Amino acid sequence: MKQREILIRFKEFKPAELTAEDKSLVNIAIESALNAYAPYSHFRVGAAVLLSNDMVIKGNNQENAAYPSGLCAERVAMFYANANYPESSVKAIAVVVVDSDGNVIEQNISPCGSCRQALAESEMRFKKPIKILLASKDSVLIFNSVEDLLPLSFNQGDLDFSK
Ligand code: THU
Repeated sequence: MKQREILIRFKEFKPAELTAEDKSLVNIAIESALNAYAPYSHFRVGAAVLLSNDMVIKGNNQENAAYPSGLCAERVAMFYANANYPESSVKAIAVVVVDSDGNVIEQNISPCGSCRQALAESEMRFKKPIKILLASKDSVLIFNSVEDLLPLSFNQGDLDFSK
């Protein structure tokens, strides 16, 4: 038996320390969170996806009276991006939650397992790492790849992702 470890590296920035591009992506995620449809949880999540064509796609959580029919902000944004710009890889995604007053909460929210899986698919499909920015009121955690959030992810080997 060998003891193995997985080391996850990420950086923590104060909002003022972000690059202009990262700050803008976080701000767009905040804008998007304000439009979330979350009458059941009142947990308003916003995501902003930066594509390789430099477009930014917004998404927010969309809840439903039949709870499992709703969808998280990250997948709303990612699926819209991949559905409409299938040639563009995803460079980065910012995720944030706003409270009932529309202010960013103090917690860095991390994508759920299903969203990590969907993000991992995009990394595999385009063979490009996706930078992940998890923003809270006073800090932004930055991961360089989905692999850091979902190590040892499931994949079916060397597939042709073009279809
Ligand atoms: N939610 C997201 O939008 N993203 C996540 O990564 C986790 C959870 C949403 C789903 C639901 O509308 C609400 O937050 C409470 O779980």
